[in-house]
Amino acid sequence: MSALEATLREVAERFAPAALASSLQAEDMVITDAIARLRLPIGVFVLETGRLNEETLALIPEIRQRYGLAVQIYEPQAGAVANYVQFYGRDAFYRGLELRQRCCEIRKTEPLARALAGKRAWITGQRREHSPNRTHLAEREFDVLHGLEKFNPLVAWSENAVWDYIREYQVPYNRLYDQGYRSIGCAPCTRPVLPGEDVRAGRWWWERAETKECGLHVAADGRLARAKAAA
Ligand code: ADX
Ligand code: SF4
Repeated sequence: MSALEATLREVAERFAPAALASSLQAEDMVITDAIARLRLPIGVFVLETGRLNEETLALIPEIRQRYGLAVQIYEPQAGAVANYVQFYGRDAFYRGLELRQRCCEIRKTEPLARALAGKRAWITGQRREHSPNRTHLAEREFDVLHGLEKFNPLVAWSENAVWDYIREYQVPYNRLYDQGYRSIGCAPCTRPVLPGEDVRAGRWWWERAETKECGLHVAADGRLARAKAAA
């Protein structure tokens, strides 16, 4: 049994109910595949921000077809979105960090809290290689903000290892990767990267590397990873 499989089994056995937060990126598809192959009682949810690409959303029915798994969808509160759009404009996030973080808060962080309510553990596809904020990420941490265990089973995986797995098990993946994307979030905040550029260079490309976090992932001491990096 691989280390990934062992971790997922442990989570299913000792921390039920548990769920995978899936952004539908390659890492999350690897974990989804392993959950399905092992038939583990671990749910999969997507924070459907309302700004995801068509290619990303196409994976939701594909997961159902391929694995028979019904992905749970969490959407932002319509009132909060409407207020933001009315006061600042739909794409106000380009105008500064505060407006960007507010958009992520409405479209991702608040729905995440609802998705995690009642769970004993959640699983993410974060890898240490992703960004300077993730260099010291542990495979298992306690999420003090939401009050539950958090597992990052691919923490030590390289980008190549992720793609080797996808090829070996013929895992469905986001077609945007074939167009030069290497990390995929919301459509207006993601673009392809050039050869040699950093893997997350296409995420919030107008910001400095240290601020490029959406607020979903909180450091072990309770501070947002981005706040920690800035300190
Ligand atoms: S982010 O903080 O920059 O947006 P990133 O895109 O690297 O995060 O994804 C890291 C992990 O966060 C994913 O593997 C997934 O577990 C979780 N995640 C990010 N976006 C979403 C989303 N829209 N829905 C569910 N989980 C997500
Ligand atoms: Fe809004 Fe962009 Fe954050 Fe998506 S990534 S929630 S569009 S600021």
